[in-house]
Amino acid sequence: MTGAMDRREFLKFTGALAGTAAFCQLRPDLAHATTPLSGYPFTLGVASGDPATNGAVLWTRLAPEIYEPDGGVPHRRLPVQWRVAKDPGMRRIVRKGVTLAVPQLAHSVHVELGGLEPGREYFFQFKYRDELSPVGRTVTAPSRWHSVPSLAFAFASCQKWDDGYYSAYRRMAEEDFAFVVHLGDYLYEYGIDEHGGFRNVPVPDQFRPETVTLDRYRLQYSLYKSDPDLRRAHERFPWLIAWDDHEVQNDYAGLAPEGGEPNPEFTARRAAAYQAFYEHIPLRATAFPRRDELRLYRRMTWGDLAEFSVLDARQYRTDQPCGDGEFPRCEESLDPAVTMLGRKQERWLEDGLEDSRARWNVIAQQVMMGQLDHDRGDPRIYWHDAWDGYPVARQRIIDHLARARVRNPVLITGDWHSTFVNDIKRDFSNPGSATVATEFVGTSISSNGDFPVYGPYYGPMIDANPHIKFFDGDRRGYVRCLLDRRQWRTDLRMVSTVSQSDAPVSTFASFVVENGRPGAVQV
Ligand SMILES: [Fe+2]
Repeated sequence: MTGAMDRREFLKFTGALAGTAAFCQLRPDLAHATTPLSGYPFTLGVASGDPATNGAVLWTRLAPEIYEPDGGVPHRRLPVQWRVAKDPGMRRIVRKGVTLAVPQLAHSVHVELGGLEPGREYFFQFKYRDELSPVGRTVTAPSRWHSVPSLAFAFASCQKWDDGYYSAYRRMAEEDFAFVVHLGDYLYEYGIDEHGGFRNVPVPDQFRPETVTLDRYRLQYSLYKSDPDLRRAHERFPWLIAWDDHEVQNDYAGLAPEGGEPNPEFTARRAAAYQAFYEHIPLRATAFPRRDELRLYRRMTWGDLAEFSVLDARQYRTDQPCGDGEFPRCEESLDPAVTMLGRKQERWLEDGLEDSRARWNVIAQQVMMGQLDHDRGDPRIYWHDAWDGYPVARQRIIDHLARARVRNPVLITGDWHSTFVNDIKRDFSNPGSATVATEFVGTSISSNGDFPVYGPYYGPMIDANPHIKFFDGDRRGYVRCLLDRRQWRTDLRMVSTVSQSDAPVSTFASFVVENGRPGAVQV
């Protein structure tokens, strides 16, 4: 079993990486490291993420053996070459270098590009010895003062591998998006049975236990990334990735495990999960865990059209004050000290929204902000892992949106394996109060599979919640967002089934938000 790497060790390695990045040819002292591997090294594909005006993060991991925690790679540093071009044929090269893949980070590679032009597409490829990776496509963000007429992006969440195939990603990759936002549950911590759940493919014994150790989390990422449709969506678009609970454990909160108190075992488990997340996601080095914190909340600006504040509603939250589950609200949740984001992130969010000059201010986050009264009379019943369990913390955000007159705030949300379109009310208990923001909760890529469980369960509650404009609990897919200066349009792109990888997709419903008028209208 391997332990999580600490920050000092990490800086030592990234320092070594920075020293080699400028070289196209291998330094002589690295040449000995070109160890042959047992097979094709790029089985987990390539990815890019966090577009900035001057670059993005490029990612891959050497792993000829996906069923081995170390990927079947010898325990030594290995040099990986990378190239960036203006064309998919990789002829007009604009950047190239070598970086080291180290065993302490499972031979993952993160290249932080700089010096590129804003607002255009690039292509990239890795090379190890004579083996070439697939070519990935990435984009840089338009500069902040650039007047951007339109933007198309997709968002998604919740991709439990053994609940079904990723036909949603196959269809997403056929569309034309600037980038993809992932809102969490990229991976689930549960053990996988010998039939691969509903995929009905053999899965070896090492996947049976729940993910607790670093080795086991690494295996789980490998299995997920072995899916060709997921890899394709990563090749086609840069992603902006957040997490929710299942990247560590269901319903965990801060350092408190599900239904328990903080303890050293869970602290170690969370550290292992955070490291494995870093290893498999195209994140900047600034995100790498420091004193057990992985700094995930961040902001991306898309010219003058849109700004994305990506939130982390797991790492800093107060343990669910009334416990996790569905029951009446308790006194403890009304304590102003209860937080979903932590004080520092909350202030960062407020300051960013206040300073934004973008037309659309997107808050990309995990759990639903719209209230859902379970309609069982008094006392009212709520689901306490979502913002409904943190009503005072929620009200602070809503009040800020209203008081600071944040321009066109739109929340995009994951978690529920269902679609909700919500008016975010100044006061949810008063249907006549102002709508201050719009929320689109996207369904899952695969979680819950083809089973109509949530529709029959939550469907009858919706009428008691007039601010919920639309609900569907039974379909899987992704959400397409098309923005221009006048209007935001959302299309629910639903696949017909997750029992096969090539299911067709269609638009199940569409909504628009007009500039200056919060709240969505179905069209
Ligand atoms: Fe989920």
